[in-house]
Amino acid sequence: MQSIQVDNISKRFGSLEVLKNVTIDLKQGEFAAIVGPSGCGKSTVLRMIAGLDTPTEGHVTANQKPIKDPDPSRVLIFQEHALYPWRTVEKNVGFGLELAGVPKQKRKEKVGELLEKVGLGGFQTYYPHQLSGGMRQRASIARALAMEPEVLLLDEPFGALDAITKITMQNELLRLWEGSGKTVLLITHDIDEAIYLADTIHVMSPRPGQIVETVRSTIPRPRNRNGADFVQVREKIMAHLDLTK
Ligand SMILES: Nc1ncnc2c1ncn2[C@@H]1O[C@H](COP(=O)(O)OP(=O)(O)OP(=O)(O)O)[C@@H](O)[C@H]1O
Ligand SMILES: [Mg+2]
Repeated sequence: MQSIQVDNISKRFGSLEVLKNVTIDLKQGEFAAIVGPSGCGKSTVLRMIAGLDTPTEGHVTANQKPIKDPDPSRVLIFQEHALYPWRTVEKNVGFGLELAGVPKQKRKEKVGELLEKVGLGGFQTYYPHQLSGGMRQRASIARALAMEPEVLLLDEPFGALDAITKITMQNELLRLWEGSGKTVLLITHDIDEAIYLADTIHVMSPRPGQIVETVRSTIPRPRNRNGADFVQVREKIMAHLDLTK
């Protein structure tokens, strides 16, 4: 299992300064979130932890070792789900296992179990266009879980979902995470989603993105979105995002 350190990183794309002195510590098994305005560099941070990009200054490490390349132990679920339209659900979810050389029968069993877990049992032979948006998102989560990642990096995974599916998916994600030892970092525009799910919430400033505050919450689960402690954390985050005016 892994802890992740984003150690005082800065990132520039040419003359564009995107991130400035960003430090984020993710303890093993922690559920953390990042909230911040559009364009402040959130996806860029996630891509660096996934090994898809490197900082201009500073270091990103996993268990004290520099992250240089993507690794199957750390999976990134993209802002837009990316299922292959020409592959069935079963073949999409089993794609990584196929690449890893897992035999067909074993793959089928494992994919079947995962689909049950995300509520897609029986949809093996469906193609992405035959699924609802929420089901597609669940299939892409199942595909990520198939790799048995230690670190789950989620970039606005529920952004495009309707309110009801979103709540169901949030609860499913919590169930998958609880007791798993997996380290989760979730990016979201939805402040309540961050508070409902995460124990640590990093609030970022507009670009160049900096961490303006790290809010820790100890609200007991299941969390009541209207509870006094919930509202208090929300107000704190809103103040740091400068949204209270
Ligand atoms: N490969 C790249 N080359 C040049 N600029 C980039 C690249 N990737 C990101 N950027 C720039 O970096 C800034 C931050 O982008 P990023 O995608 O990290 O923002 P974000 O916080 O995830 O925004 P959103 O909430 O809208 O998804 C943007 O101004 C973007 O144009
Ligand atoms: Mg983004």
